[in-house]
Amino acid sequence: MDNRSKEFYDILFDPWLPLTRETTSLTPIYIVDSEKHLPPSVCESHVKFAKHLGFFSSQGESVFLPAEDGSILAVLIRLNLSVDRFNLGSCLARLPDGNYEIKTELQSDKALETMIGFCLSAYRFELYKKKRIDFGVKIFVPRGIDFGKLGAFVKSEYFVRNLINTPASDLGPKSLERAIECFCHKMKADFTAIIGDQLLKSNFPLIHAVGRAGSEAPRLAKFTWGNPNSYKITLVGKGVCFDTGGLNVKPDASMAAMKKDMGGAASVLGLANCIISLKLDVYLTVIIPIVENSISSNSFRPGDILSSRKGLDVEVNNTDAEGRLILADALSYADESRPDLIICMATLTGAARVALGQDIVPFYTKSDEFSKLLSEGSLKNFDPIWRLPLHSEYEHMIESQIADLDNAPKSGMAGSITAALFLNRFVENSKTFAHFDIYSWSSKTRPGRSIGGLMQAVRAIYYAIEKSLM
Ligand code: BES
Ligand code: ZN
Ligand code: ZN
Repeated sequence: MDNRSKEFYDILFDPWLPLTRETTSLTPIYIVDSEKHLPPSVCESHVKFAKHLGFFSSQGESVFLPAEDGSILAVLIRLNLSVDRFNLGSCLARLPDGNYEIKTELQSDKALETMIGFCLSAYRFELYKKKRIDFGVKIFVPRGIDFGKLGAFVKSEYFVRNLINTPASDLGPKSLERAIECFCHKMKADFTAIIGDQLLKSNFPLIHAVGRAGSEAPRLAKFTWGNPNSYKITLVGKGVCFDTGGLNVKPDASMAAMKKDMGGAASVLGLANCIISLKLDVYLTVIIPIVENSISSNSFRPGDILSSRKGLDVEVNNTDAEGRLILADALSYADESRPDLIICMATLTGAARVALGQDIVPFYTKSDEFSKLLSEGSLKNFDPIWRLPLHSEYEHMIESQIADLDNAPKSGMAGSITAALFLNRFVENSKTFAHFDIYSWSSKTRPGRSIGGLMQAVRAIYYAIEKSLM
């Protein structure tokens, strides 16, 4: 199907974790706030040594206490545990190679945050590096932590980041479809795809129109998993392998990171990985429209009026607002089987960043109950998301003079909200619908986040789904 090797897809979904459950040869780590919190095992000369290095005056410092044989007896880390997400975890990831155990008793949420932060700080994207540096730090999983969940969260995020970081030259529509197929093979999920002109025959006109100019045909990937009699969840993710903006071409700086425009597709795969590996009792359907938004003689154009799967006619006022078009058809399709819950994830608007910055994901849902669970999940899982309103008085902004809908409201105001209102027009039958306008990217390396692809909102959503089933 595609010229990339099987190993390529295996590396994208690599089950490696920097954790150990062996109890021998572990170097102890003590987290200290002040001299008073030093463990009794630290002798006076070691205290002097630490003072000498200025250990008690600066945050985030580590001191390695030597044993007589020259090995590391213990590590002291000075940190105020209440500041910043994943800070302690990232200190751990900078330790010299070895196996360690955190001896300081941490509250259970702090311990979870630390372990997630550590594992995520250990992430490296080395697919294209001839010289790879093996990460050699392993941390013993503290008692009271759900190892299965930690593993699922971390592996999902590695997978999501790998998918986003892989450039469009290697992860175009064909390869993304193949990556999904390989994932399904591993997870024993039932996979199907509708490709190229078949999209027209199967009534996905918007996916076809947006993707037809790409050198690889547009497609719709779909898979299902679980018991068809259980709670029905459908995940829909934006799979734009590269977004040039189309004929309304993006300026250079805005186009630079657009290999990440399949971040929604990657994220719903991450969420599916959590759901499947933690064996939630649900019937899962994942629907991913895959295109490249390219420029060619057969590109869709500004001014075109396109009929959607649902029958609503959409006036294209900007070919760069392509995400909502392909999602419209995918969401209509998802909605036709009336699931209990539809989750949509998409790098949909630049406006979401203007509203909340790159760290906080706006989400939209009409369900106060589900929103409450999401906000709770956000706090408990160190995964910042924030509800914005589906403000009905803005509905007129997405309506066109000459068609049913306009894909790009002129004023540009409340851009993330109007995009969400647009998607909402295509979901009618499902009990609950929530949409996440994600960024999928970190512009620099920070604790628990490396520069490049990022998984957002997945842990918060997983929590909300798990609670909905109780
Ligand atoms: N993929 C972009 C949105 C985007 C841009 C996400 C930058 C993250 C970072 C999307 O397809 C797009 O270009 N949207 C337009 C919509 C507008 C033309 C109505 C936008 O946000 O400018
Ligand atoms: Zn766009
Ligand atoms: Zn886009």
